Amino acid sequence: MTAIALGIPRVGVAGAPVPPDLSGRGDSPYLIDRHGRRGRDLRVSLTDRCNLRCTYCMPAEGLDWQPADELLSDDELVRVITVAVDRLGIQEIRFTGGEPLLRKGLPGIIARVGALRPKPEVSLTTNGIGFARRADEFVDAGLDRINISLDSLDPDTFERITRRRRLRDVLAALDAAAAVGLTPVKINAVLLRGVNDHEAPDLLQFALDHGYQLRFIEQMPLDAGHVWSRDRMVTADEIQERLAARFDLSPDPGARLGAPAELFRVNGGPATVGIIASVTRPFCGDCDRTRLTADGQIRTCLFSRAETDLRAILRGGGTDEQIAQLWRATTWGKLPGHGIDDPSFLQPDRPMSAIGG
Ligand code: 5AD
Ligand code: SF4
Repeated sequence: MTAIALGIPRVGVAGAPVPPDLSGRGDSPYLIDRHGRRGRDLRVSLTDRCNLRCTYCMPAEGLDWQPADELLSDDELVRVITVAVDRLGIQEIRFTGGEPLLRKGLPGIIARVGALRPKPEVSLTTNGIGFARRADEFVDAGLDRINISLDSLDPDTFERITRRRRLRDVLAALDAAAAVGLTPVKINAVLLRGVNDHEAPDLLQFALDHGYQLRFIEQMPLDAGHVWSRDRMVTADEIQERLAARFDLSPDPGARLGAPAELFRVNGGPATVGIIASVTRPFCGDCDRTRLTADGQIRTCLFSRAETDLRAILRGGGTDEQIAQLWRATTWGKLPGHGIDDPSFLQPDRPMSAIGG
């Protein structure tokens, strides 16, 4: 397999590159791994920059942003995504950041990816700032779905979490997304103890009133400051308890199927609320994701400590099949789980904003 000799799997911790062991893999074109999973969903980070500074993600002063020459160009990105769709069986492309709306060429990238056949589903995970006035442009480009982050409905609490007074922009983004038909509009919320955890039922009521689909995400150890602690995190059990004070929740049968959110019917349905319990109820066994960072590294997991450098192949004159083959080999070595609950767990070197949510 020449492609593997070409690629240099980068190991995050000190140590020499480890050549992937492909025994038992067979010759499937898909992104299969040793644990019976298949990657169908590609998350693409378009930039590590952001116009908010959520405390669970970034320090107030921001980070050392990735240098421009290390970022994949629009053409390089589209080429990699085309390989993923054409050769690896990827069916869904989700653009993330940092904040993906800060990427200048985003509508053009969406249009080119949406024109691939078979057409992948194209979605965006965003903080929503600036989306309202561009919603039509994105729908015209071929955007199918959107997830907007909203942790508080109180302007002061919103500012305390994001360090910016931008609640109004996020609410406008939600309105605009619904108005242009990007439905069901999804909201992601992270609860922080003593900051916004009391707002869980208000957030759900707000989502019900507007027909948005709310999903709570357990806070994960991906903050740049490495201050996450298991004890302080608001768990899925607690979120359920807080919601149960005002709503009747019942498990939505069969809803999980590969999707990370556990869904609950609210007051008998049809409305639902989701909980993504990455830490306390990990769903690694069903994981169908693969990730591409803005600087062209493949990661098989948010929590990977190793990356595979696609950019070197891209810029070194590699063929599409060599890119595909390196991705397949990387995926074959995907670990069975993230091990957050393991005492030896080590947080990845990159923060969430440089990986993509
Ligand atoms: N834990 C959980 N969710 C996070 N997000 C960002 N950082 C974290 C973290 N440490 C969320 C954002 C956004 C999505 C991309 O991931 O709030 O909704
Ligand atoms: Fe920006 Fe998202 Fe990080 Fe908040 S969580 S600072 S919106 S990248």
